[in-house]
Amino acid sequence: MTIIRRQGFVKGFEDGGMGFWDRFDGDYESLFDRDPMYWEALDMMLELSGDLAGKRALDLGCGAGVFLSRLAEAFPNAELYGVDPSKKMVRRCERRLGHSARVRILRGSALRIPLPDEHVHAVLSNLALHHVPPPERPACAREIARVLRPGGRLVYADLFCDVEGPPEDPDRCRDIIQKMVGKSLYDLDHGAYRTMLLHLGDIPAVLTEDGEYFTTDRVWREAFREAGIERLEVKPVPPEEFGYRIITGIKAWTEEV
Ligand SMILES: C[S@@+](CC[C@H](N)C(=O)[O-])C[C@H]1O[C@@H](n2cnc3c(N)ncnc32)[C@H](O)[C@@H]1O
Repeated sequence: MTIIRRQGFVKGFEDGGMGFWDRFDGDYESLFDRDPMYWEALDMMLELSGDLAGKRALDLGCGAGVFLSRLAEAFPNAELYGVDPSKKMVRRCERRLGHSARVRILRGSALRIPLPDEHVHAVLSNLALHHVPPPERPACAREIARVLRPGGRLVYADLFCDVEGPPEDPDRCRDIIQKMVGKSLYDLDHGAYRTMLLHLGDIPAVLTEDGEYFTTDRVWREAFREAGIERLEVKPVPPEEFGYRIITGIKAWTEEV
């Protein structure tokens, strides 16, 4: 049974992990079904998003639209956008949510978000921005700040490591291996067999930075701060040791001249 096909992944693909997710031919919708951390992260993100009633929110790297449908349920009169570079994911998301007039699903990347300046009250993202290559992180943070209204909220959940360094740095490798093997064993303990295979299969790609660019939350916080997002905070998704964390921040109000 082939569930995840890692081979054929193109190093340096323009849109990071899009190449892999565009080739992913398993059932994404049930991939995280048995992974309690995934659902805990979505619950936390929902809470950290604040009251989005009557507001506009973007799920960046929305995938098959799992979080987007939770947002649509929680805020029946919010205007929602899902953006993802993968054709396949966009198609899945459309199947799930395309019938709704107040949800728009668009093909695009975190490096070129197809929305006007200051359009949304919140940018939310789960497990997607680690596909952005390291030199592009500052531009990605600026792009997120561009589409956020002043005072708008960022809620960014992802897997982070705790050691900065080049791919071959032994301390960085050890940290990543411990976190990903730990998470895989956690998946196994929770009957999340397919999630376990995904995480184990991802280890070489993360270690060699082949479309999966883990870094510390400090690096991302710095990029967001420089892009004009302030009040940055980090919350771990329990259990903490696997590096699943949520960065929140608020787009600064600019001085009137
Ligand atoms: C693990 S899935 C996460 C999907 C969804 N956010 C969720 O929580 O289920 C990673 C997603 O990131 C998307 N992605 C890859 N590169 C991206 C980029 N440059 N900008 C935005 N999304 C990207 C992929 O297409 C894929 O849908």
